[in-house]
Amino acid sequence: MTNDMTDRRAVLRGAAVAGLAGVSVPLIAACSSNDSSSTPTSSAPTSAPSSAPSSSAPAGGGVLGPAADVPVGGGAVFKDAKVVVTQPAAGQYKGFTAVCTHMGCIVATVANNTIDCPCHGSKYSVTDGSVVNGPATKPLAPVPVSMKDGNIVSA
Ligand code: FES
Repeated sequence: MTNDMTDRRAVLRGAAVAGLAGVSVPLIAACSSNDSSSTPTSSAPTSAPSSAPSSSAPAGGGVLGPAADVPVGGGAVFKDAKVVVTQPAAGQYKGFTAVCTHMGCIVATVANNTIDCPCHGSKYSVTDGSVVNGPATKPLAPVPVSMKDGNIVSA
């Protein structure tokens, strides 16, 4: 029976060491398992978009407005789509998000080769959306656009 006692002590010691070493791990695991178990997997989205063709334009796609609104050397802000389109050179259309990277205002004007935000004065390049004048530090994200049948369309 001393063998049993020795074995039991060894097991207890091992358990104590394992318990000390693993104190934080089970807590973290418990939290994450609780989170995942509280998320029901049966609450599928109400729509069934898997059958929708993926080639269709995403939200905001389609016609933004007449190309005539985008002058050479200038641009236009299509507020509904939150896209600003510039034409740095004739026939060369560039699209960018109209959401200022500083604090999320919609840029308002395109003038003097910059896209201007009215909120705090950030200015972005009409050619690549890069910051010309802060306080914004990140460029406007590009939005693919093209001219089709006299209109600017987003891809
Ligand atoms: Fe555009 Fe601040 S949100 S400059």
